[in-house]
Amino acid sequence: MKKKISVNKWSFDNMPETYDSHLKRSIPLYQESQFFISKISSYFIKDQNINYEIGCANGTIIGSLAREYKNFKKTKFVGIDLSKKLIIEAKKRYKNINNLNFQSSNASQYNFKKCNLAIIHYVLQFMTDEEKKMLIKKIYKQLIKSGAMIVFEKTLMEDSYSQDVFSGIYNDFKFDNEYSPEEVIKKSISLRSVMRSSTSKNNIELFKACGFKSIYDFFKWGPFEGYLCVK
Ligand SMILES: C[S@@+](CC[C@H](N)C(=O)[O-])C[C@H]1O[C@@H](n2cnc3c(N)ncnc32)[C@H](O)[C@@H]1O
Repeated sequence: MKKKISVNKWSFDNMPETYDSHLKRSIPLYQESQFFISKISSYFIKDQNINYEIGCANGTIIGSLAREYKNFKKTKFVGIDLSKKLIIEAKKRYKNINNLNFQSSNASQYNFKKCNLAIIHYVLQFMTDEEKKMLIKKIYKQLIKSGAMIVFEKTLMEDSYSQDVFSGIYNDFKFDNEYSPEEVIKKSISLRSVMRSSTSKNNIELFKACGFKSIYDFFKWGPFEGYLCVK
């Protein structure tokens, strides 16, 4: 008798405690993207308005920015995430930081206020095309002139040969980080219909269609890319 693989749909709600280690083992150059976010942010955070992280999970990125800028009295940091459990965890971890708050919401439905900066680190890939467009348009509208959006995304490659090569290399990365072949296959099955990556060209077209004119594709590890979009 053939053994059937039974796999649940992927959900970030299922792993608040193991979240940090999961991300570091699954996303190449995770520390380096944190470095760029912190350094690029310093060119855009002012002591006014709000700075957002969309899809903030348990708050690591926005929490560390809020700590760094705790002496800025007129700016606030807001983390938004769809997962109620991750937002509860974020609130617990950063309960003593006054300039920071967390909201549980689908970011595409969120009412943004005037902002200097929006960070979206490996999140758009979980949204439908309509949600991505709605979200980026809202952010563009509420960013001040010369404000910025920093986006990281796992992309699809432009052609099938490089898609094949880099999918293989990404699997090697996960095996090197001690995921078993079974775990890797189960995750990829659970992500079917959840993951909606686009090519880099389509991402850049989306940012342009929502109003951004200055777009810098500054970071790349195979399909993992980082963009700085300035209004
Ligand atoms: C790969 S994780 C990245 C988390 C975080 N940016 C980081 O790098 O640590 C993706 C996150 O996006 C959140 N997410 C997915 N779709 C969302 C949506 N429509 N609105 C808000 N958050 C969303 C998930 O709940 C998850 O926490």
